[in-house]
Amino acid sequence: MFAFTALAVALTATSTMALPAKRAEPGPWCNGLGAGAFDDVPSFTLAAYNATGPNANSTGAPLVLGTAGAIDGAEFWHFITEASWPYAVTYTSISLVNGTLIPNGEGTTPAQATTVDAGNSLEFVARNSAEPSKGAQIYCAVADTDPAGHGTGHPFLAVNGDTDSFSLCQSTFENVVWYKAAPNRGYNYDSCYPVKVQLIY
Ligand SMILES: *[C@@H]1O[C@H](CO)[C@@H](O)[C@H](O)[C@H]1NC(C)=O
Ligand SMILES: *[C@@H]1O[C@H](CO)[C@@H](O)[C@H](O)[C@H]1NC(C)=O
Ligand SMILES: *[C@@H]1O[C@H](CO)[C@@H](O)[C@H](O)[C@H]1NC(C)=O
Repeated sequence: MFAFTALAVALTATSTMALPAKRAEPGPWCNGLGAGAFDDVPSFTLAAYNATGPNANSTGAPLVLGTAGAIDGAEFWHFITEASWPYAVTYTSISLVNGTLIPNGEGTTPAQATTVDAGNSLEFVARNSAEPSKGAQIYCAVADTDPAGHGTGHPFLAVNGDTDSFSLCQSTFENVVWYKAAPNRGYNYDSCYPVKVQLIY
């Protein structure tokens, strides 16, 4: 009985010492995004909320990963509207881990986030040797902290510290999310309209 009590005391002491497990500050990829910024979300999907026009609901248009081309041994993926993707969805959820996005899906090839420059889409390279946890650390989530409650109720995605520069633009077959959309980049620039990319979970 004494031994048992001593053990309990020891355990209590240990767990008290280990206590300050306060949530880690988000990394530098969240710099400048305010108190609502965070960089770890285990599982979500994305949706595009029309920033200037009408929305059917507070979620916006669901987004999925669609193919953006392939080379020998590697396939590229980026976010397109689910409505413009005619195939089964392979990467069914996304994780935000330590500033990178990790696509998840049963039996899928590992996909690693690449850097995102102006005029480009949010790309991933999938190949057997990819290391998703070592993808570009450029993503952050930003919860709405407006006390007036003007948000949609869903956190916004930021890339390169920026939640305000996403657009949906029509390509030949797909409606793709672009960062700082620009003319002459292989999509119909005139079709672009600004969106907020939202994390839905
Ligand atoms: C989003 O809003 C723009 C106006 O800024 C409009 O032209 C566009 O059709 C809207 N998109 C959808 C899907 O409703
Ligand atoms: C919200 O509206 C979009 C169309 O923009 C639709 O595809 C989606 O299913 C709707 N989501 C919900 C939760 O109603
Ligand atoms: C998060 O990223 C930083 C910078 O690349 C790295 O030093 C750290 O080990 C990572 N943390 C985890 C839990 O992977």
